[in-house]
Amino acid sequence: MRADDDFRPITTERLLLRRSVAGDAETISAYRSDPAVHAMQGWDRTDPDGVRAEIEEMEDRKPGDPGGWVQFTVVARDGGIVGDVGLSPADDETGVIKVGYTIDPRFQSRGYATEAVKALVDYAFTTLDADIVRAYAGAENIPSIRVMEKVGMRFMERFQGSDGEETWTGVRYEVTSTG
Ligand SMILES: CC(C)(COP(=O)(O)OP(=O)(O)OC[C@H]1O[C@@H](n2cnc3c(N)ncnc32)[C@H](O)[C@@H]1OP(=O)(O)O)[C@@H](O)C(=O)NCCC(=O)NCCS
Repeated sequence: MRADDDFRPITTERLLLRRSVAGDAETISAYRSDPAVHAMQGWDRTDPDGVRAEIEEMEDRKPGDPGGWVQFTVVARDGGIVGDVGLSPADDETGVIKVGYTIDPRFQSRGYATEAVKALVDYAFTTLDADIVRAYAGAENIPSIRVMEKVGMRFMERFQGSDGEETWTGVRYEVTSTG
């Protein structure tokens, strides 16, 4: 995998994926704080300052760089922010990159996550030379699993996770550069 020194926003039919900037924090915080969204993700903080700090922390990281996430704000080409997606190389697994995604509930079920994640998968293979793109979700998160399936990922495993006292079941899906 290589790092992208010259990232240019990714465009799809309806969307633009650009690097998240601190000015996006209020909007992102609003939908991440929705209990239905928050329940599906492991964020510690969803308040504007927390989201802003996270965006600032990843500012100097290039897509494909190890050590954490790079986040892209998803903007409707005929409107405003509809969600965010991200990429993070897996620790100690050369060629594997994880993808994450969230769409504002006001804009869900329009195919936006599928369109954005598909573009990110293509970008990971063609620009970053990744071998495998991987996604995780809670086993009950049907919309997220549908997105994985729709971008061509295959079911790899079911596993038990734990957060302190709480245990949960997760799934891992992947797609390879060779299809
Ligand atoms: C997962 C998520 C990103 C999907 O975004 P989206 O833009 O609505 O996704 P899409 O429109 O591309 O596809 C959603 C699919 O789920 C299906 N779906 C949505 N709600 C569903 C439900 N309750 N039961 C069954 N299927 C459902 C939709 O019908 C669609 O599938 P289809 O095209 O086969 O009809 C969005 O629900 C979200 O942000 N959830 C909270 C955060 C999250 O879970 N992120 C992923 C963590 S791994």
